[in-house]
Amino acid sequence: MMHQKILSGTLTALTDRDAHLRLDGLTKRYGDTDAVAALNLNVPKGELVALLGPSGCGKTTTLRMIAGLITPSGGRIVVGGSDITRMPVYKRDMGLVFQSYALFPHMTVAKNVAFGLEMRGVPKPEIERRVTEALAMVRLESLAGRKPRELSGGQQQRVALARALVIRPSILLLDEPLSNLDAKLRDEMRNEIRDIQQKLGITAVFVTHDQVEALSMCDKVVVMKGGKLEQVGTPVDVYERPETPFVASFVGRTNRLEGAARGDGTVSVGGATLRVPGRPNGPVEIMMRPHRVRLADVDASPAGEGTNRLDGRLTRVTFVGDLLQYHVDVNGAELIVEAASDHGRFFRAVGTPVTLSWRIEDTMVFRRAA
Ligand SMILES: Nc1ncnc2c1ncn2[C@@H]1O[C@H](COP(=O)(O)OP(=O)(O)OP(=O)(O)O)[C@@H](O)[C@H]1O
Ligand SMILES: [Mg+2]
Repeated sequence: MMHQKILSGTLTALTDRDAHLRLDGLTKRYGDTDAVAALNLNVPKGELVALLGPSGCGKTTTLRMIAGLITPSGGRIVVGGSDITRMPVYKRDMGLVFQSYALFPHMTVAKNVAFGLEMRGVPKPEIERRVTEALAMVRLESLAGRKPRELSGGQQQRVALARALVIRPSILLLDEPLSNLDAKLRDEMRNEIRDIQQKLGITAVFVTHDQVEALSMCDKVVVMKGGKLEQVGTPVDVYERPETPFVASFVGRTNRLEGAARGDGTVSVGGATLRVPGRPNGPVEIMMRPHRVRLADVDASPAGEGTNRLDGRLTRVTFVGDLLQYHVDVNGAELIVEAASDHGRFFRAVGTPVTLSWRIEDTMVFRRAA
């Protein structure tokens, strides 16, 4: 009894110290559906965590509950060991960047950034110093006197970021901050946000439905589906070791086949036999990443050691710049192979019989309801 108490005390202390931000069974109910259902999450100090999931899965609702803009129906929000679930927004030490920027149109860039400090009654000389510092951080010093309508989308986005950073929040909350930017600017801003977040050692939650953003910027990825957590892990974890078919197909592209596992490490798929890691039994789905599959002329020799093989027919070739996507019909199932494009030269004509091969260890296998 005594022993147990000490042990649980130690465990609690450990979790509190490790987690800067902790969500305990956080729930938001609208009518009879849970927009967010009993979410549990620990975010250590200085980590950038992505909430990743399809539209409507509860990302914004979660972020706004953390910020204090939406009242949870249940559960707790704990920051640095203190329960802040009922704390008003303005008392929370958090910076927010909304998807829509939400800049004040009639104020200059500098005024927009200064606003939060003025509200907090910070002395004027300090406001000036900190605004200059925040604008330098996002490389906008030279545009301090402009109005938001005189800025590009990316520049407005950076003002929104400076406005959130200037109050030196202990937690930074970002809701799809890059979704309105073009591909090149998005790349730049990704690196910029990551650099600033690391330099300041700030704890941050980053909402996105873009898997590349989540994988490339964040320490941890939280994959959500229907208000619930599907998987939490490092970018490599969720990409290489997805725990559910949903995670596999949402975090990266996948090919999918259905089959019947025999319990001996083999799966019957149509007329073919594939080998899989482990010894699953019964109905399964099999997935593999398009870039891990090789395409070759039809090969009559047996599959090599450690590889799976299927024969099919090329139905379409798509040129996507750096990649070629080959669509292959395998017994009625369409599989995709991606390969580096060799100066736009296509491999074989549509209609050609081809062989697909990939490593057994690159074969993801999931149990499927019969
Ligand atoms: N005020 C509300 N009343 C009723 N339902 C709501 C309300 N706000 C959100 N919802 C519902 O809750 C669910 C989660 O919404 P949320 O905005 O958190 O999704 P999201 O993951 O941010 O999606 P998106 O990627 O489209 O921004 C959705 O099904 C949405 O329709
Ligand atoms: Mg949203």
